[in-house]
Amino acid sequence: MNDPQQLGSFPTTRLRRLRRHDWLRRAVAETVLTPADLIWPIFVHDHEAALPVPSMPGVERLPVEGVLRAAEEAIRLGIPALAIFPVVEPALKTDDGAHAYEADNLACRTVRAIRQRFGDALGIICDVALDPYTTHGHDGLLADGQIQNDETVAVLCRQAVVLAEAGCHVVAPSDMMDGRVGAIRESLDAVGRDDVAILSYAAKYASAFYGPFRDAVGSAAALGTAASQGLADKKTYQMNPANAAEALREVALDIAEGADMVMVKPAGTALDVIQRVKTTFGLPTFAYQVSGEYAMIHAAADNGWLDGEAAALESILVIKRAGADCVLTYFAPELARRLGER
Ligand code: PBG
Repeated sequence: MNDPQQLGSFPTTRLRRLRRHDWLRRAVAETVLTPADLIWPIFVHDHEAALPVPSMPGVERLPVEGVLRAAEEAIRLGIPALAIFPVVEPALKTDDGAHAYEADNLACRTVRAIRQRFGDALGIICDVALDPYTTHGHDGLLADGQIQNDETVAVLCRQAVVLAEAGCHVVAPSDMMDGRVGAIRESLDAVGRDDVAILSYAAKYASAFYGPFRDAVGSAAALGTAASQGLADKKTYQMNPANAAEALREVALDIAEGADMVMVKPAGTALDVIQRVKTTFGLPTFAYQVSGEYAMIHAAADNGWLDGEAAALESILVIKRAGADCVLTYFAPELARRLGER
Protein backbone atom coordinates (compact mmCIF):
# COMPACT_ATOMS: atom_id res chain seq x y z
CA MET A 1 0.00 0.00 0.00
CA ASN A 2 2.87 2.38 0.74
CA ASP A 3 4.77 1.33 -2.37
CA PRO A 4 4.01 3.96 -5.01
CA GLN A 5 4.76 1.41 -7.77
CA GLN A 6 1.91 -0.77 -6.58
CA LEU A 7 -0.49 2.14 -6.74
CA GLY A 8 0.45 2.71 -10.36
CA SER A 9 1.56 5.89 -12.01
CA PHE A 10 0.54 8.34 -14.68
CA PRO A 11 -0.28 8.00 -17.55
CA THR A 12 -1.46 4.39 -17.09
CA THR A 13 -3.19 5.35 -13.90
CA ARG A 14 -5.62 8.23 -14.13
CA LEU A 15 -7.58 8.81 -10.93
CA ARG A 16 -10.03 11.08 -12.71
CA ARG A 17 -11.33 8.00 -14.57
CA LEU A 18 -13.42 7.06 -11.55
CA ARG A 19 -14.83 10.55 -11.12
CA ARG A 20 -16.49 10.77 -14.51
CA HIS A 21 -20.08 9.88 -13.68
CA ASP A 22 -22.41 10.24 -10.78
CA TRP A 23 -23.12 6.46 -10.65
CA LEU A 24 -19.41 5.75 -10.56
CA ARG A 25 -18.66 8.31 -7.88
CA ARG A 26 -21.41 6.77 -5.80
CA ALA A 27 -20.15 3.25 -6.45
CA VAL A 28 -16.62 4.01 -5.23
CA ALA A 29 -17.55 6.34 -2.36
CA GLU A 30 -15.59 5.38 0.77
CA THR A 31 -18.09 6.99 3.11
CA VAL A 32 -21.84 6.75 2.79
CA LEU A 33 -24.26 8.69 4.96
CA THR A 34 -27.57 7.17 5.98
CA PRO A 35 -30.32 8.48 8.27
CA ALA A 36 -29.09 5.94 10.86
CA ASP A 37 -25.94 8.07 11.23
CA LEU A 38 -27.91 11.06 12.47
CA ILE A 39 -29.19 11.97 15.94
CA TRP A 40 -31.67 14.82 16.19
CA PRO A 41 -31.18 17.26 19.11
CA ILE A 42 -34.52 18.73 20.23
CA PHE A 43 -35.32 21.66 22.53
CA VAL A 44 -38.47 21.22 24.61
CA HIS A 45 -40.18 23.95 26.62
CA ASP A 46 -43.24 24.26 28.82
CA HIS A 47 -45.40 26.44 26.58
CA GLU A 48 -48.28 25.70 24.25
CA ALA A 49 -46.69 27.12 21.13
CA ALA A 50 -43.37 26.49 19.41
CA LEU A 51 -40.82 29.30 19.79
CA PRO A 52 -38.12 29.78 17.15
CA VAL A 53 -34.47 30.08 18.17
CA PRO A 54 -33.38 33.29 16.36
CA SER A 55 -29.71 32.28 16.05
CA MET A 56 -30.66 28.81 14.72
CA PRO A 57 -32.97 29.33 11.73
CA GLY A 58 -35.32 26.37 11.32
CA VAL A 59 -34.89 25.23 14.93
CA GLU A 60 -37.67 25.71 17.46
CA ARG A 61 -38.26 25.15 21.14
CA LEU A 62 -41.17 22.71 21.04
CA PRO A 63 -43.97 21.90 23.46
CA VAL A 64 -44.13 18.22 24.49
CA GLU A 65 -46.83 17.62 21.84
CA GLY A 66 -44.46 19.05 19.23
CA VAL A 67 -41.71 16.72 20.41
CA LEU A 68 -44.07 13.79 19.91
CA ARG A 69 -44.68 14.92 16.33
CA ALA A 70 -40.91 15.22 15.82
CA ALA A 71 -40.47 11.73 17.27
CA GLU A 72 -42.96 10.35 14.79
CA GLU A 73 -41.14 12.12 11.97
CA ALA A 74 -37.79 10.75 13.20
CA ILE A 75 -39.12 7.19 13.12
CA ARG A 76 -40.52 7.71 9.63
CA LEU A 77 -37.17 9.11 8.44
CA GLY A 78 -35.06 6.35 10.00
CA ILE A 79 -33.32 8.63 12.50
CA PRO A 80 -32.39 6.30 15.37
CA ALA A 81 -32.69 8.65 18.32
CA LEU A 82 -33.56 12.09 19.67
CA ALA A 83 -31.36 14.00 22.11
CA ILE A 84 -33.62 15.95 24.46
CA PHE A 85 -32.68 19.39 25.84
CA PRO A 86 -35.12 21.08 28.23
CA VAL A 87 -35.61 24.83 28.37
CA VAL A 88 -36.25 25.33 32.06
CA GLU A 89 -38.50 28.16 33.27
CA PRO A 90 -36.43 30.83 35.06
CA ALA A 91 -38.61 30.46 38.19
CA LEU A 92 -37.49 26.82 38.51
CA LYS A 93 -33.77 27.61 38.37
CA THR A 94 -31.83 27.72 41.62
CA ASP A 95 -28.20 28.08 42.62
CA ASP A 96 -28.03 24.34 43.31
CA GLY A 97 -30.05 23.26 40.26
CA ALA A 98 -32.17 20.94 42.42
CA HIS A 99 -34.98 20.79 39.84
CA ALA A 100 -32.62 18.62 37.75
CA TYR A 101 -33.44 15.60 39.90
CA GLU A 102 -37.15 16.11 40.39
CA ALA A 103 -38.97 13.23 38.75
CA ASP A 104 -41.69 15.40 37.23
CA ASN A 105 -39.44 17.98 35.59
CA LEU A 106 -39.90 18.79 31.93
CA ALA A 107 -37.11 16.50 30.74
CA CYS A 108 -38.61 13.53 32.59
CA ARG A 109 -42.16 14.33 31.46
CA THR A 110 -40.99 14.55 27.86
CA VAL A 111 -39.18 11.23 28.08
CA ARG A 112 -42.24 9.55 29.61
CA ALA A 113 -44.50 10.94 26.90
CA ILE A 114 -42.22 9.68 24.11
CA ARG A 115 -41.86 6.23 25.67
CA GLN A 116 -45.58 5.95 26.26
CA ARG A 117 -46.36 6.74 22.63
CA PHE A 118 -43.47 5.04 20.83
CA GLY A 119 -41.99 2.47 23.22
CA ASP A 120 -38.56 1.41 22.00
CA ALA A 121 -39.10 2.36 18.35
CA LEU A 122 -36.97 5.45 18.87
CA GLY A 123 -33.97 6.02 21.12
CA ILE A 124 -34.06 8.77 23.72
CA ILE A 125 -30.80 10.37 24.81
CA CYS A 126 -30.78 12.80 27.73
CA ASP A 127 -28.08 15.26 28.69
CA VAL A 128 -26.85 15.00 32.25
CA ALA A 129 -25.57 18.40 33.41
CA LEU A 130 -26.89 21.19 35.57
CA ASP A 131 -26.70 24.17 33.20
CA PRO A 132 -30.40 24.27 32.29
CA TYR A 133 -31.26 24.27 36.00
CA THR A 134 -28.79 26.64 37.64
CA THR A 135 -29.31 30.40 38.01
CA HIS A 136 -25.62 30.89 37.14
CA GLY A 137 -25.77 28.69 34.01
CA HIS A 138 -22.89 26.44 35.00
CA ASP A 139 -22.92 22.67 34.52
CA GLY A 140 -21.86 22.18 38.12
CA LEU A 141 -22.36 23.52 41.64
CA LEU A 142 -20.63 26.77 42.55
CA ALA A 143 -19.15 27.61 45.92
CA ASP A 144 -16.81 30.53 46.56
CA GLY A 145 -16.77 31.18 42.83
CA GLN A 146 -15.42 27.67 42.10
CA ILE A 147 -17.09 24.63 40.53
CA GLN A 148 -17.28 21.87 43.13
CA ASN A 149 -16.41 18.64 41.33
CA ASP A 150 -17.35 15.88 43.74
CA GLU A 151 -20.47 17.60 45.09
CA THR A 152 -21.61 18.09 41.50
CA VAL A 153 -21.05 14.42 40.67
CA ALA A 154 -23.39 13.41 43.50
CA VAL A 155 -26.14 15.61 42.05
CA LEU A 156 -25.53 14.38 38.49
CA CYS A 157 -26.09 10.81 39.74
CA ARG A 158 -29.50 11.79 41.05
CA GLN A 159 -30.32 13.51 37.77
CA ALA A 160 -29.26 10.43 35.78
CA VAL A 161 -31.42 8.20 37.95
CA VAL A 162 -34.63 10.23 37.48
CA LEU A 163 -34.03 10.37 33.72
CA ALA A 164 -33.44 6.61 33.59
CA GLU A 165 -36.53 5.95 35.66
CA ALA A 166 -38.55 8.18 33.32
CA GLY A 167 -37.48 5.82 30.54
CA CYS A 168 -34.57 7.32 28.64
CA HIS A 169 -32.36 4.74 26.92
CA VAL A 170 -29.11 6.67 27.11
CA VAL A 171 -27.80 9.23 29.58
CA ALA A 172 -25.19 11.59 28.21
CA PRO A 173 -23.15 13.41 30.85
CA SER A 174 -22.05 16.66 29.20
CA ASP A 175 -20.73 18.38 32.31
CA MET A 176 -17.02 17.36 32.15
CA MET A 177 -16.64 16.78 35.89
CA ASP A 178 -13.98 14.21 36.79
CA GLY A 179 -15.25 10.81 37.87
CA ARG A 180 -18.88 11.27 36.91
CA VAL A 181 -19.14 8.35 34.50
CA GLY A 182 -18.20 5.74 37.10
CA ALA A 183 -20.43 7.32 39.73
CA ILE A 184 -23.40 7.50 37.35
CA ARG A 185 -22.89 3.86 36.30
CA GLU A 186 -22.90 2.79 39.93
CA SER A 187 -26.01 4.82 40.72
CA LEU A 188 -27.92 3.46 37.73
CA ASP A 189 -26.96 -0.11 38.58
CA ALA A 190 -27.94 0.41 42.20
CA VAL A 191 -31.53 1.19 41.15
CA GLY A 192 -31.63 -1.74 38.74
CA ARG A 193 -31.07 0.29 35.56
CA ASP A 194 -28.09 -1.59 34.19
CA ASP A 195 -29.91 -1.48 30.83
CA VAL A 196 -29.42 2.28 30.47
CA ALA A 197 -26.33 3.13 28.43
CA ILE A 198 -23.88 5.97 29.04
CA LEU A 199 -22.81 8.15 26.14
CA SER A 200 -20.10 10.24 27.70
CA TYR A 201 -19.24 13.67 26.37
CA ALA A 202 -15.65 12.58 26.94
CA ALA A 203 -13.86 15.21 24.91
CA LYS A 204 -15.92 18.34 25.20
CA TYR A 205 -14.10 21.54 24.41
CA ALA A 206 -14.68 24.99 25.90
CA SER A 207 -15.92 26.29 22.60
CA ALA A 208 -17.16 29.56 21.18
CA PHE A 209 -19.48 27.48 18.98
CA TYR A 210 -22.03 26.79 21.75
CA GLY A 211 -23.39 30.35 21.68
CA PRO A 212 -26.72 29.72 19.91
CA PHE A 213 -27.44 26.68 22.14
CA ARG A 214 -27.02 28.85 25.23
CA ASP A 215 -29.49 31.33 23.71
CA ALA A 216 -31.91 28.48 23.04
CA VAL A 217 -31.87 27.12 26.60
CA GLY A 218 -31.46 30.51 28.26
CA SER A 219 -28.13 29.89 29.97
CA ALA A 220 -26.23 32.58 28.04
CA ALA A 221 -27.46 35.56 30.07
CA ALA A 222 -26.90 33.70 33.33
CA LEU A 223 -23.35 32.79 32.38
CA GLY A 224 -22.68 36.39 31.41
CA THR A 225 -23.83 37.60 34.83
CA ALA A 226 -21.79 34.90 36.58
CA ALA A 227 -18.69 35.91 34.64
CA SER A 228 -19.18 39.60 35.43
CA GLN A 229 -19.25 38.65 39.11
CA GLY A 230 -15.89 36.96 38.72
CA LEU A 231 -17.35 33.48 39.03
CA ALA A 232 -15.83 30.40 37.44
CA ASP A 233 -15.55 29.99 33.72
CA LYS A 234 -16.54 26.88 31.72
CA LYS A 235 -12.84 26.68 30.80
CA THR A 236 -12.23 25.30 34.30
CA TYR A 237 -14.01 22.08 33.29
CA GLN A 238 -14.37 21.96 29.49
CA MET A 239 -11.20 21.22 27.54
CA ASN A 240 -8.81 23.66 25.93
CA PRO A 241 -9.19 23.45 22.12
CA ALA A 242 -5.38 23.45 22.00
CA ASN A 243 -5.28 19.87 23.34
CA ALA A 244 -5.70 16.49 21.65
CA ALA A 245 -3.55 14.13 23.76
CA GLU A 246 -5.61 15.21 26.76
CA ALA A 247 -8.76 14.21 24.87
CA LEU A 248 -7.41 10.66 24.60
CA ARG A 249 -6.82 10.61 28.36
CA GLU A 250 -10.37 11.82 28.98
CA VAL A 251 -11.73 9.08 26.74
CA ALA A 252 -9.53 6.40 28.34
CA LEU A 253 -10.74 7.38 31.82
CA ASP A 254 -14.39 7.40 30.77
CA ILE A 255 -14.07 3.96 29.19
CA ALA A 256 -12.42 2.64 32.35
CA GLU A 257 -15.33 4.08 34.34
CA GLY A 258 -17.89 2.31 32.16
CA ALA A 259 -18.82 4.58 29.25
CA ASP A 260 -20.55 2.57 26.50
CA MET A 261 -20.04 5.25 23.86
CA VAL A 262 -18.04 8.44 23.78
CA MET A 263 -18.61 11.80 22.20
CA VAL A 264 -16.34 14.45 20.77
CA LYS A 265 -17.73 17.97 20.69
CA PRO A 266 -17.74 20.23 18.70
CA ALA A 267 -17.23 18.03 15.64
CA GLY A 268 -16.05 20.17 12.75
CA THR A 269 -13.22 21.75 14.73
CA ALA A 270 -12.07 18.40 16.14
CA LEU A 271 -11.94 16.02 13.18
CA ASP A 272 -8.41 15.02 14.19
CA VAL A 273 -9.62 14.15 17.68
CA ILE A 274 -12.55 12.10 16.33
CA GLN A 275 -10.13 10.12 14.18
CA ARG A 276 -7.67 9.50 17.00
CA VAL A 277 -10.39 8.47 19.43
CA LYS A 278 -11.89 6.03 16.92
CA THR A 279 -8.59 4.47 15.88
CA THR A 280 -7.19 4.33 19.42
CA PHE A 281 -10.20 2.87 21.25
CA GLY A 282 -12.50 1.51 18.56
CA LEU A 283 -15.66 1.89 20.59
CA PRO A 284 -18.75 3.68 19.29
CA THR A 285 -17.70 7.27 18.78
CA PHE A 286 -20.25 10.02 18.41
CA ALA A 287 -19.62 13.60 17.36
CA TYR A 288 -21.77 16.65 18.02
CA GLN A 289 -22.07 19.20 15.27
CA VAL A 290 -23.00 22.00 17.64
CA SER A 291 -25.29 24.99 17.41
CA GLY A 292 -22.62 27.39 16.17
CA GLU A 293 -21.59 25.07 13.36
CA TYR A 294 -25.23 24.88 12.30
CA ALA A 295 -25.69 28.63 12.62
CA MET A 296 -22.61 29.41 10.50
CA ILE A 297 -23.76 27.29 7.58
CA HIS A 298 -27.27 28.71 7.81
CA ALA A 299 -26.10 32.31 8.03
CA ALA A 300 -23.92 31.96 4.95
CA ALA A 301 -26.64 30.13 3.04
CA ASP A 302 -29.30 32.67 4.04
CA ASN A 303 -27.03 35.38 2.64
CA GLY A 304 -26.76 33.48 -0.62
CA TRP A 305 -23.04 32.93 -0.03
CA LEU A 306 -23.10 29.15 -0.25
CA ASP A 307 -25.42 26.27 -1.03
CA GLY A 308 -26.71 25.45 2.44
CA GLU A 309 -27.97 21.97 1.67
CA ALA A 310 -24.75 20.89 0.00
CA ALA A 311 -22.64 22.44 2.77
CA ALA A 312 -24.71 20.72 5.46
CA LEU A 313 -24.35 17.35 3.76
CA GLU A 314 -20.60 17.79 3.23
CA SER A 315 -20.06 18.93 6.82
CA ILE A 316 -21.66 15.74 8.17
CA LEU A 317 -20.07 13.42 5.61
CA VAL A 318 -16.56 14.50 6.61
CA ILE A 319 -17.35 14.00 10.30
CA LYS A 320 -18.25 10.41 9.47
CA ARG A 321 -15.16 10.07 7.27
CA ALA A 322 -13.03 11.15 10.24
CA GLY A 323 -14.38 8.19 12.20
CA ALA A 324 -17.67 9.14 13.83
CA ASP A 325 -20.27 6.39 13.96
CA CYS A 326 -23.08 8.83 14.57
CA VAL A 327 -23.47 12.59 14.41
CA LEU A 328 -25.73 14.76 16.54
CA THR A 329 -26.83 17.52 14.21
CA TYR A 330 -29.62 20.06 13.96
CA PHE A 331 -29.63 19.26 10.24
CA ALA A 332 -30.78 15.69 11.03
CA PRO A 333 -34.39 15.93 9.79
CA GLU A 334 -33.64 17.81 6.55
CA LEU A 335 -30.63 15.61 5.76
CA ALA A 336 -32.54 12.40 6.50
CA ARG A 337 -35.34 13.59 4.22
CA ARG A 338 -32.84 14.33 1.48
CA LEU A 339 -30.99 11.01 1.90
CA GLY A 340 -34.31 9.20 1.66
CA GLU A 341 -34.95 10.80 -1.73
CA ARG A 342 -32.04 9.12 -3.45
C1 PBG B 1 -24.42 21.83 28.37
C2 PBG B 1 -24.45 21.56 26.92
C3 PBG B 1 -24.03 22.47 25.96
C4 PBG B 1 -24.28 21.88 24.72
C5 PBG B 1 -24.84 20.63 24.93
N1 PBG B 1 -24.91 20.43 26.33
C6 PBG B 1 -23.52 23.87 26.08
C7 PBG B 1 -22.50 24.24 27.04
O1 PBG B 1 -21.67 23.44 27.48
O2 PBG B 1 -22.53 25.41 27.40
C8 PBG B 1 -23.99 22.58 23.43
C9 PBG B 1 -24.65 22.07 22.22
C10 PBG B 1 -24.65 23.02 21.08
O3 PBG B 1 -24.00 24.08 21.09
O4 PBG B 1 -25.32 22.68 20.11
N2 PBG B 1 -24.28 20.82 29.24
